[in-house]
Amino acid sequence: MFIHCELVVLILALTLDGQASAVYGGHEAVAHSRPYMVLLERHMQNGETSYCDGFLLTEDFVMTAAHCQAKSFTALLGVHNVRNSNGIQRIYVKDTFPHKDYSATELINDIMILKLSSKANFSNNVRPIALADRGDGSLPKSCSVSGWGRNDRNSKYMSLKLMEVSVTLTDNELCRGKKIYCSEGEAGPGRLWWSVSL
Ligand SMILES: *[C@@H]1O[C@H](CO)[C@@H](O)[C@H](O)[C@H]1NC(C)=O
Repeated sequence: MFIHCELVVLILALTLDGQASAVYGGHEAVAHSRPYMVLLERHMQNGETSYCDGFLLTEDFVMTAAHCQAKSFTALLGVHNVRNSNGIQRIYVKDTFPHKDYSATELINDIMILKLSSKANFSNNVRPIALADRGDGSLPKSCSVSGWGRNDRNSKYMSLKLMEVSVTLTDNELCRGKKIYCSEGEAGPGRLWWSVSL
């Protein structure tokens, strides 16, 4: 599978300090303008709950980062404000497929597919992402990143509302070698992470 940035939005599914992901220098997204965004409730081995982001590929598959692995997950669909449970679909994840060559130390192939235990009901607020074709991978490219992660480096807490930020993906040898997309500067995800190929 190839994911490019034309239609696709790079999703932020970072766990920094085991807490939440991060979108720095962004702004609140228009509510439900990204109906493919999934908030993943991670049930951890130690009984704690934390969060990651993902996006809906089909009615029963979600893509996220491999470093989000947990004991179990519940996928929350149709979320904008985390505190508002109106119209949210909660679906248990029944199977996880981390990339077989994911390396936590090298941070490569940080990608994972989740199979939901039942199908999502599509609506205005719940819809799969449009994936671009292969063949438009030329950089630099303008892209946007979204997520519920921290939006301030000094904050320990995730954002209650979906945030987004524009970034420019840059070409550099290191990132190319690791098959990840990179952006430069202060804005954007808390860390580089996206794998291009599965
Ligand atoms: C989808 O709709 C059906 C029929 O209304 C309902 O039974 C089911 O619980 C819904 N699924 C979710 C995930 O909300």
